[in-house]
Amino acid sequence: MNSQNQKNQMNRRRFLQTSTKLAAAGIYLGVFGMPELFGNVVMDKSKVSIPDVKLNNGLKMPILGFGTYGLRGEICQQSVVEAISAGYRLIDTAKVYGNEEEVGKAIKQSGIDRKQLFVTSKLWVDDAGYENAKKGFEETLRKLDLEYLDLYLIHRPRGDVKGSWKAMEELYKAGKIKAIGISNFDPAQLADLLSYAKVKPVINQIETHAYFQQTNDYNVLKKDNIQMQAWAPFAEGRNGLFTNETLTQIAKKYNKTTAQISLRWHYQRGIVSIPRSSQKTHIIENLDIFNFKLDDADMKAIEKLDLNKTQFPEWS
Ligand SMILES: NC(=O)c1ccc[n+]([C@@H]2O[C@H](COP(=O)([O-])OP(=O)(O)OC[C@H]3O[C@@H](n4cnc5c(N)ncnc54)[C@H](OP(=O)(O)O)[C@@H]3O)[C@@H](O)[C@H]2O)c1
Repeated sequence: MNSQNQKNQMNRRRFLQTSTKLAAAGIYLGVFGMPELFGNVVMDKSKVSIPDVKLNNGLKMPILGFGTYGLRGEICQQSVVEAISAGYRLIDTAKVYGNEEEVGKAIKQSGIDRKQLFVTSKLWVDDAGYENAKKGFEETLRKLDLEYLDLYLIHRPRGDVKGSWKAMEELYKAGKIKAIGISNFDPAQLADLLSYAKVKPVINQIETHAYFQQTNDYNVLKKDNIQMQAWAPFAEGRNGLFTNETLTQIAKKYNKTTAQISLRWHYQRGIVSIPRSSQKTHIIENLDIFNFKLDDADMKAIEKLDLNKTQFPEWS
């Protein structure tokens, strides 16, 4: 090959590399799109990964994470290892799930730098109150075998919430927890907590899915600058969510699954979701939601699925 040919080859290679990068950037900004801002979504343009939300204390948190309710023993450990290896960085556990030790072991086994993970656990009802909350937190940290938690939530608004919150504020100020929040608080319970809280909760984790869209809570939390997080983002598949006709039709349109349509819908509402799965294929599938965008008609069609009713009456 003469030198002119070589130069042409190099220019062509450079052109292809540059145009691929530009196309990727275009796809990123155009197709991936920004969700409707709930908190402050931060996109890292250098790579396609799970976008972060910025919480009201400045901490960044992935908008999609991995739930662990009902996962126990080896299945739990293995699922969390799979999830971290697939790319999840946010792991959601709780004392009452009885799996904090396995989650901790999975974190060690994953070999990933602790600082790259966002670990959430929750204070159970039995540990409510100032002294008990401090003990409950220490037990959680010991079981997880971690030095600190990224997020600690009051699991349910029961017992001495004021005492629990005071203990959590102190642990937060001591740097043992990077952010503190609540779960299953309705707007009145939130308003009560805000009346005495010195540290505002960063998040409220509540049941949210297509059948229970929590529009009122959504608006209240948005106004208060508290991030909404969806538990049971698939309603655990109850009431036929995975085979729902509307979701199935939308899924066909984008060559996606109803699970992915559900998660994309949460994402476009700016809600952090934490789907759980014990199957590697589902774990991977549930991450693949950042390369398409639901249009307004899709969002409106899903909005119409709202039954405005919990699908978990046994927990009320
Ligand atoms: N704060 C609270 O009070 C509270 C309450 C409940 C839950 N949570 C948290 O929220 C997390 C999520 O909620 P959840 O676990 O109750 O329910 P979920 O995530 O709505 O649903 C989990 C179910 O969906 C199935 N699934 C997952 N991905 C799928 C896919 N791509 N296709 C088909 N099926 C799929 C799973 O089965 P496979 O294993 O077969 O995939 C599992 O049966 C919990 O794990 C927990 O961390 C918090």
